[in-house]
Formats: sequence, C-alpha cells, structure tokens
Amino acid sequence: MGLLEGKVVIVTGGASGIGAVSTEVLAAEGARVVVADINREGAERQALKVRDSGAEALALHVDLQDQESIQSMVADTVKAFGGLDVLFNNAADTRLSSTRDTAVEHVDVEVWDEIMRVNLRGTMLAIKYAIPHMRERGSGSIINTASGAGQAGAHSFSAYGVSKAGVIMLTQYVATQHGKEGIRCNAISPGLIVTPAVIDTYAEGEMGKMMLRHHLTARLGQPEDIAHALVFLASDRSAFVTGHCLNVDGGCMAHQAFWADAVATKF
Ligand SMILES: NC(=O)c1ccc[n+]([C@@H]2O[C@H](COP(=O)([O-])OP(=O)(O)OC[C@H]3O[C@@H](n4cnc5c(N)ncnc54)[C@H](O)[C@@H]3O)[C@@H](O)[C@H]2O)c1
Repeated sequence: MGLLEGKVVIVTGGASGIGAVSTEVLAAEGARVVVADINREGAERQALKVRDSGAEALALHVDLQDQESIQSMVADTVKAFGGLDVLFNNAADTRLSSTRDTAVEHVDVEVWDEIMRVNLRGTMLAIKYAIPHMRERGSGSIINTASGAGQAGAHSFSAYGVSKAGVIMLTQYVATQHGKEGIRCNAISPGLIVTPAVIDTYAEGEMGKMMLRHHLTARLGQPEDIAHALVFLASDRSAFVTGHCLNVDGGCMAHQAFWADAVATKF
C-alpha cells in the first residue's frame, strides 16, 4: 500500500520538469493525479503516461494568470474525483524569468506583473479555491514551490526571486490560518534541479561546474529529489510539519556565501 493511497492530488505545471516527474511518483504511491498546465497537449500526454502505469489521472488546462481558470481547475477536480486532498503548487513562469526578468532598474513592469501573477497570485488563488474542499474533508496538505532565489539576492531574476520570497511567506500565513482545521501548508525550495527549463543555461558547461561547486553534494538535483520530498509532505508521515520551507537543494543555501570561493583558493 502506497503512502498516498486514494488521495486526490492537483499538480500545477504537471506537463514538464519537476511537475511531470512528480505526477508519476505520486501515482506510484497510490494517488489519483490531476495534471494541470497551460500546455494542454503536454498535460494530456503526461496524464496518459500516468494512466498507462495503471493509476488514475486527469489532464486539465489551467492558466494561472486567470482567476476563473484556477477556480475551474479546482471545481473540475472535485467533480471528477469527489474531493481534494493535496495541492502541489509547482508551476512558475520559468520561460519569462529566464529571458526578460532582469535587475530591478531595467525590468519591464509588464514582465514583473506577469511573473507575479503566475508565481505568487496564481499560487494564492489555487490555495483560496482549494481550502473549502479540504475543510470539507477535515484535512489537506498544500505544498508550494519556493526557490533559493527567494531566500537571497542575485544580479538578475528580480521578479522571480521576489515572487518566491512571497510564496514562502504565503506558506506561513496559510499554515497559520488553517492548521486547526487539519490543513497543513509547507513549501519546498529546490536547488538546481536538472529539468528542460534550466539544462542549457545552468546545468552544463562552465555554468554547470560553478553551480555544482556551490552545492554541498557531489551532484546537482534531479526532479525525483523534489518528488520524494513532496510525497513526505503530502502524506501523513509529515502530520506534525506545517509552515515549513524545506530546502531540497544539496545544501546550496546552507553554507556561507564565500565558502566555494574559499575552497577554490585553498583558503
Ligand atoms: N529547475 C530548477 O532548478 C528549479 C530551482 C528552483 C525552483 N524551481 C521551481 O520548481 C518549479 C518547476 O520548475 P521546472 O524546472 O520543472 O520548470 P518547467 O518550466 O519545466 O515547468 C513549469 C511548468 O509550468 C507551466 N506553466 C507556466 N506558466 C503557466 C501558467 N500561466 N499556468 C499554468 N501552467 C503554467 C509550464 O507549462 C510548465 O509545464 C517552478 O516553480 C520553479 O520555479 C525550479
């Protein structure tokens, strides 16, 4: 028997990267999975893959910029599966962040607004519509996706980083407001996870080597590393954990900023 037997789980951004692998790992633990994504075809493809493994899965189109679309995602899930147990807020506008999200002085306000709408407002709205259904069940687990970029500053990616800092605080507010109702809310903060969104820019070549120097582990992260932490936070094994941001980052945020340079210069 899996750790999530019969649980209904929504995975936003389930069509690719961390989200896609998570749908498979959740299903292997017995979950009934909703693959929700703006990429309709990708969501259909991923739901089919999960169904081929023998689990139940449903593909839903959602645009996290659109309030009604988010409301429908939750309503359609409840209609199809009779309730909602787990919400994995995984989607982010990684495409816009990697192309047009710059230093504050130079960032276009439209870019800032869109990233905030998807990453922070979209996460908040998914939670807003999920809560009443979890309250009806008397339990629920919400897992948001943060980032190291939301815990320390960088030369660029200002909107992305600030949106992820907001996600960490949103996690604490929701945990505080709904803990007594049996609803938990935690965040996972990934390190560099090798997915299509980052592979070309960060995971390979000189950049890849530099990133690895700043992880305390001997390798960079894989989507399965996030999915395994997700299973823990989604399941009753973490029943006493709420309001927490779990760094699943190979220790990337655990060391002093100058540590890797100090090692390189044989300090
Ligand atoms: N990969 C990493 O190294 C890394 C590091 C830190 C945090 N993260 C976070 O992990 C999560 C997943 O990252 P990934 O690398 O798998 O990214 P990804 O780009 O592969 O996946 C993101 C998914 O979100 C979907 N999406 C984008 N905009 C949407 C919208 N408006 N509505 C609905 N769906 C939308 C995309 O279609 C895509 O399927 C993100 O929140 C990201 O910020 C990733």
